Amino acid sequence: MSEKIQVISQYALQGIEAQSLRNAALAAQQTLESGSGEGNDFLGWLHLPSSIDESQLLAIEKSAAQLRQQCEYVITIGIGGSYLGAKAVIEALSDHFAAYKNNGGPKVVFAGNNIGEDYLYDLMDLVRGHKFGIIVISKSGTTTEPAIAFRLFKEMLEKQEGKEFAQRNIIAVTDAHRGALRVLATQEGYDTYVIPDDVGGRFSVLTPVGLLPIAVAGFDIRALVAGAVEMEQDGDEQVLNYAIARNALYQDGKKIEILANFTPRLHFLAEWWKQLYGESEGKDHKGIFPASVDLTTDLHSMGQMIQDGERTIFETVLSVGDQQHEIIIPSDDADLDGLNYIAGKNVDYVNKMAELGTRLAHVDGGVPNLLITIPAVTERYIGQLIYFFEKACGVSGYMLGVNPFNQPGVEAYKKNMFALLEKPGHEEATAQIKARLKS
Ligand code: PA5
Repeated sequence: MSEKIQVISQYALQGIEAQSLRNAALAAQQTLESGSGEGNDFLGWLHLPSSIDESQLLAIEKSAAQLRQQCEYVITIGIGGSYLGAKAVIEALSDHFAAYKNNGGPKVVFAGNNIGEDYLYDLMDLVRGHKFGIIVISKSGTTTEPAIAFRLFKEMLEKQEGKEFAQRNIIAVTDAHRGALRVLATQEGYDTYVIPDDVGGRFSVLTPVGLLPIAVAGFDIRALVAGAVEMEQDGDEQVLNYAIARNALYQDGKKIEILANFTPRLHFLAEWWKQLYGESEGKDHKGIFPASVDLTTDLHSMGQMIQDGERTIFETVLSVGDQQHEIIIPSDDADLDGLNYIAGKNVDYVNKMAELGTRLAHVDGGVPNLLITIPAVTERYIGQLIYFFEKACGVSGYMLGVNPFNQPGVEAYKKNMFALLEKPGHEEATAQIKARLKS
């Protein structure tokens, strides 16, 4: 097994002339690397891994150690790119049942990623009477969902533990100069970390946006960054393979890409991937729709649609080499369940056969299949995967002919919501939307 991510298109491109896209991919790569394309003021992520220095890592580790020492819970507040990266990495590396076990460190919990009243109530109930800290993350500093959550938990923490404890155990990650959160952090004297101007939310997991919560959760951010550096320095062939294959499939009428994993801990990595590709490519009425499934779980629900539904999908399987633990299936004298034929095999062997069998079945059903392999789910390989997907996204977006680094479409719901909430400054929109609802 290679020590790096591999992209294998053996079952993806049969009958499709993909190599003709190689020149387009190389041109897109050149556009990205020379900074000559649209959105070139948001390329800070491109050489981010290799530019993270020792002092940045030490500062983050120090803040994380302080929160780990002082707090039973650390509430990480943020949404979109200010949430999904940390959530994906923490979930990938954690014990699946960490929430129910005492592993010595604080529990990292998330808020501000929805406007669920009962969600917030339940989280308040969880941390009531316990020492907790807050990492509040917002580049703009004005996003409604995290702002509501922060207002609630800041007030709760100050009342529960006092102003001084709150001031020491709230850390803000935001723009260097602008935005309400920067002003508030300065006023209150919180420790802060900066989200660089030239790194957009969905590309920010390797900034303090992701690194701080990941370090608080007890994971090795140095290994994560080292993995990303490996792909930054030596990942281009795999990046090109992926960008070429998905664009070839898109041109062949495959409008939906399903990222499938057979490893439950990768569920949120797919959520992060969906934001990365959805916000980057879904523009000008173009773009591959990113979807995801957890297998074999979803073979018992979405499996029918993938096998037999409309033939507009291709599948990218994220395949993991080694599990962390081995469990052997025992033999049973009665064998009522008929499983003795796999007795003595480990569980992952069965999973791997399910994976291969599924891939072949889907190919036979008209669903081209790309395979991305990682040797194991560790900080290093997750770091590789993050950078690989980010760079492939930049190349792929330019191949598609869109600006992969803006997200104008996400403003539409906000305008309506503010009008409906009668936010000051939105009077005209409020009048218009009320008239529209009456008609
Ligand atoms: O990728 C993006 O830019 C968005 O998903 C943002 O990260 C998200 O809207 C949160 O924005 P902010 O960090 O400004 O609160």
